[in-house]
Amino acid sequence: RKRVLSGMQPSGLMHLGNYLGALENWKVLQESYDCYFFVADWHALSTNYADTSHIREFVREMLIDWLAAGIDPQRATVFVQSRIPEHAVLHLLFSMMTPISWLERNPTYKEKQEEIKEKDLGTYGFLGYPVLQAADILLYKPDFVPVGKDQLPHLELTRELARRFNDLYKTPVFPEPKEHLTKFPKVVGTDGRKMSKSYHNTINLSDPEPVVRQKLKTMVTDPARVRRTDPGNPELCPVYDFHKIFSPLPVIEEVDQGCRTAGIGCIDCKKLVADRIVERMTPIWDARAKLVQHPSQLDDIVQAGSRQASAVAHATLREATEAMKI
Ligand code: TRP
Repeated sequence: RKRVLSGMQPSGLMHLGNYLGALENWKVLQESYDCYFFVADWHALSTNYADTSHIREFVREMLIDWLAAGIDPQRATVFVQSRIPEHAVLHLLFSMMTPISWLERNPTYKEKQEEIKEKDLGTYGFLGYPVLQAADILLYKPDFVPVGKDQLPHLELTRELARRFNDLYKTPVFPEPKEHLTKFPKVVGTDGRKMSKSYHNTINLSDPEPVVRQKLKTMVTDPARVRRTDPGNPELCPVYDFHKIFSPLPVIEEVDQGCRTAGIGCIDCKKLVADRIVERMTPIWDARAKLVQHPSQLDDIVQAGSRQASAVAHATLREATEAMKI
């Protein structure tokens, strides 16, 4: 079996955008690959170092979301980065051979600093974020890394580091992993912008049903459609984006027509899609409730996964230090 590895930062609660963009894909991958999925809690520190008080809770919630959504610990190895110190050790070794220019030209370094003005991200750790990611990846020698487009520069740097290491120490320790691009359109949030925790426009997997319904009720619509009798343009309405994701084709066509001719009002249109979303989320909520009731089950899963990951990481780190003769 070919190996797949991916990680997610626990920098907040998981929302529908994360679910559709990543988890759905992971669920498919676990059927045919030897999968390693981990919570990148050290990565979350890079932007949250000043307030770490929620990270542990987010790690736990993230694990619950993964399992509730159908990540199967019998098939995939599920673990937490900070339980595997080898990630930090390989990060240190890589940092010795990473030219700063490679990191400074990384587009996410500049972009995130622009985006998050209220935090000082001019730190050593933030600059080195992709070096830690390279260590995360290369320790497990995966064939594929499922990521979104935004992560491609990090993957390129991972391959450059693998090559550099192998060349420097004349040992082919690290194979070069390929990306497995997740192709899912950006999910919009309740305000019509991209769904993102930094915009406070998310529908979270852990939101209870009334909260989800309320968020949909107050969601923005085509701003030109002021009165019930005004015709609307579904292409300008974020609720319609949800229909396209969650509703069956006849319903999509019905609301498209209905909106353009003022045959359906926004309240009814929202109710239709809310029912679909609730239907889709109900199995996740049920599974969540069970996991929350049995906290030791979660601990056991993470412990077993971390033990398995640790064995792989340990063996790879040994190869690396052997190649370096240290
Ligand atoms: N940087 C990734 C993100 O923000 C998270 C991540 C950390 C990751 N380490 C990884 C993804 C290793 C894939 C492989 O989405």
